[in-house]
Amino acid sequence: MSISPGSSLFTLEVESEFPEPNPGQFVHVAASEELTLRRPFSIAGRPTPEKIDLLIEIRGKGTRALTDLPYRAPVSIMGPLGNGFSEPEGDGRAVVVAGGIGVAGIRFLAHELHASGRSVLALVGARTRNELLDHLLPPTTSDGRFEVAIATDDGTAGFWGTVCELLDRELDEIGRPSKVYCCGPVGMLAETAAVARDMDLPCELAFEEIMACGTGACRGCVIATKQGYRTVCKDGPVFDAREIVFEGAPCV
Ligand SMILES: Cc1cc2nc3c(=O)[nH]c(=O)nc-3n(C[C@H](O)[C@H](O)[C@H](O)COP(=O)(O)OP(=O)(O)OC[C@H]3O[C@@H](n4cnc5c(N)ncnc54)[C@H](O)[C@@H]3O)c2cc1C
Ligand code: FES
Repeated sequence: MSISPGSSLFTLEVESEFPEPNPGQFVHVAASEELTLRRPFSIAGRPTPEKIDLLIEIRGKGTRALTDLPYRAPVSIMGPLGNGFSEPEGDGRAVVVAGGIGVAGIRFLAHELHASGRSVLALVGARTRNELLDHLLPPTTSDGRFEVAIATDDGTAGFWGTVCELLDRELDEIGRPSKVYCCGPVGMLAETAAVARDMDLPCELAFEEIMACGTGACRGCVIATKQGYRTVCKDGPVFDAREIVFEGAPCV
């Protein structure tokens, strides 16, 4: 089902032995017989125990091939892979932040936090109004326990600016949250990490590196952390923001 220009939501029926996934985990998908390497996608939701949602933005050959598959076509997936997000500490409001297709990485988490009765503020950004994916999250509730705020770079909807600028503004208003979670381009992860560091907030970031094996064997997906290079596929894709060494800072 197309949900914005260039992005589609897929619901896959999985085998009964498919393990229960955690929010933040991903599957490694064989996009077509012509492509040797699988492509990683976040588990973007779990409508029933036999189904998982994937939210896919067309970027190249693999995502195009998946989007062109006929209805009910069989697809080979490996997973669930990676570590996933951890629970917020304490009962305070959790803040989830997503830019563009990063909504795929936090959608499952947002639904689970909401279902567990926690108070959640979701901040969703996009370049422009018709690229926003906020409609894939639970709607704002009248009691304010789930609240969605949006930002667009061109000001065509919601806050005029980046979702990180919106985060900065919202944190000034709502006070100290239990945890900040973020999925999006690496620049956005770095900015979110900086905001969280300045306020000494717990913060988890979901990375989207290019992958090959998806299981920790090839080390093709490493990022720099304070403990040295770690694989996004096996040690991640979720990392404590305080552990990451963003470009320009030394990896020890
Ligand atoms: C943990 C994780 C979760 C993600 N979740 C999502 C999500 O939920 N939704 C989403 O839309 N995207 C997600 N992504 C990004 C997504 O995986 C990429 O957009 C996708 O892999 C692009 O594939 P492509 O074939 O369309 O693009 P391409 O650019 O054609 O290929 C992607 C990359 O794979 C490599 N590659 C391709 N072909 C070869 C080859 N023959 N030999 C060697 N390398 C090759 C290249 O390095 C290339 O840059 C996620 C990424 C990660 C790591
Ligand atoms: S993709 Fe091979 S180690 Fe991560």
